[in-house]
Amino acid sequence: MVDPGRCNLRVHPSPVKDPCARPHRGYVWDSPSYGTSCYLSKANGPTVGKSEFDIPLNLYEPAFRHANAHGVLVAFRIPDAPSPVPTEVISRLHPEEAERARTLQGYRQVQFVGGRLAARAARKTVGAPPGPLLSDERGAPVPPKGWACSISHKNDVAIAMFSRARLGAIGVDIEAYGPKRMRIANRVLRPEELAAVAPLPEDRRWIDTLIRFSIKESIYKALAPELKRYIGFHEASVRPHLNGTADVQLFLEPAAGPYEVDARFEFLHQKVLTSVRVRRA
Ligand SMILES: CC(C)(COP(=O)(O)OP(=O)(O)OC[C@H]1O[C@@H](n2cnc3c(N)ncnc32)[C@H](O)[C@@H]1OP(=O)(O)O)[C@@H](O)C(=O)NCCC(=O)NCCS
Repeated sequence: MVDPGRCNLRVHPSPVKDPCARPHRGYVWDSPSYGTSCYLSKANGPTVGKSEFDIPLNLYEPAFRHANAHGVLVAFRIPDAPSPVPTEVISRLHPEEAERARTLQGYRQVQFVGGRLAARAARKTVGAPPGPLLSDERGAPVPPKGWACSISHKNDVAIAMFSRARLGAIGVDIEAYGPKRMRIANRVLRPEELAAVAPLPEDRRWIDTLIRFSIKESIYKALAPELKRYIGFHEASVRPHLNGTADVQLFLEPAAGPYEVDARFEFLHQKVLTSVRVRRA
């Protein structure tokens, strides 16, 4: 049993490999040895696992486990297709989750089931009590008392992160690297962010935009359950650093907080994984 609130997380700096095998000074993606890879110290409990990122072919089975400064994360492989989820898989959920899953269809059913299976595995890993993980009226997962959790799904993977609530609220997001969709920049970035992205080399402009976008979605997941309202993309400004951290400034309207936001990003399987921890400053 691993308690991310008590274990010391050791960050292992490692050389940044460039899978493109050409020199550049920007972000490097799909690199398992990316400098922010963290895993739990054996001295403080069992190793949850270095991220391995070789996703097995078995659908609705664990793909990988991971831990970072914000919590313990489990990923499940899901089909990247709107195929009905087999009855046997739905029956692995808590009965109340299964009841909800049966009301869903297509991608929504696949993603809900994948996310709940990942959440069940993550909550077991951290030692949170068993029970249904239902959603509130805005769609946020409602974790057991004393715990924080967040869910994301993209293409063939569903992820869930659990942590102690006393450490703050958490949000996770996973986004596919491609195809490049630079047209989203005007919608999701603030003027100062657009100005920071514009002079970057062409191949870094999109990854920088994607990291900012994904961190904002993580912020939404962490903060919306407390604010109980929609939070616009222009209510946060994100500045990613090459070491996998990012500065975040909130511009909440109406004003709330103040909040302290710790944001991280890393790369795996052509995807960007971001997470945040939000607590009152
Ligand atoms: C809600 C939102 C963040 C979800 O992100 P997404 O990329 O569409 O989808 P993901 O797969 O990553 O995440 C879906 C999960 O988000 C979680 N979620 C949904 N609404 C939520 C809310 N209000 N609060 C917290 N978590 C929420 C759920 O767990 C959901 O999965 P589930 O329904 O299977 O439980 C996104 O749809 C959205 O509305 N974004 C606009 C708002 C925003 O991001 N603003 C930036 C503020 S700085």
